[in-house]
Amino acid sequence: MDAKFRIAPSILSADFARLGEEVRNLIGAGADWIHFDVMDNHYVPNLTIGPLVCEAIRPHTSAPIDVHLMVEPVDALVPMFAKAGANVITFHPEASRHVDRTLSLIRDQGCQAGLVFNPATPLAWMDHVMDKLDLVLLMSVNPGFGGQSFIASALPKLAEVRAKVDAWKAQTGKTILLEIDGGVKVDNIAAVAKAGADTFVAGSAVFGARDADGGYKTVIGKLRAELAKVGV
Ligand code: DX5
Ligand code: ZN
Repeated sequence: MDAKFRIAPSILSADFARLGEEVRNLIGAGADWIHFDVMDNHYVPNLTIGPLVCEAIRPHTSAPIDVHLMVEPVDALVPMFAKAGANVITFHPEASRHVDRTLSLIRDQGCQAGLVFNPATPLAWMDHVMDKLDLVLLMSVNPGFGGQSFIASALPKLAEVRAKVDAWKAQTGKTILLEIDGGVKVDNIAAVAKAGADTFVAGSAVFGARDADGGYKTVIGKLRAELAKVGV
């Protein structure tokens, strides 16, 4: 597998009664990151997990924990997640009153920082903060729930972000990762990679294989095999 691709299962679809074991199994099956979806029943109409749960899973893996904040406001949670062991923290720019300040706050806490764009959120939010971005997370569903279908307009939008981050790299030498989140499956991951993503969140696609032959290892292997075909 090309090291430039990362697979980040979203534990939103995990068995929460045995989360530590799920995290160990995922990493053992070849996952690179753990994607951690935080929903507040305010920014999105769903309620999930917070810093206490992040702290509880931290001892179960040394893999990066990728915290996706679907919360409004954002800033108060940043130090709490940093303290709980998060490695990456992303937030939706329209949910923060001062986007530049929130990005600095995340980095000052020792985490990698990123902006998240919903399908209809304009990319202009990133233009003046490129120097503070470690990654961009593009949503290919509307946030709030796992198991939704991939929204096709995310593909041309991915290509737009790819062009921006490649131009930034040419100008500064700095890499900004490009992560995609929502409806990523074995049958579309190759097209998503071709459009420019290098980091892939997959919730229902991975956890749907929990009881299938080979379980997580088989499905993660299939996702990687599709990525290997892309050869970019
Ligand atoms: C949606 C979350 C996603 C989601 C991914 O708001 O941010 O991470 O759980 O799940 P699937 O892969 O099932 O779309
Ligand atoms: Zn997510």
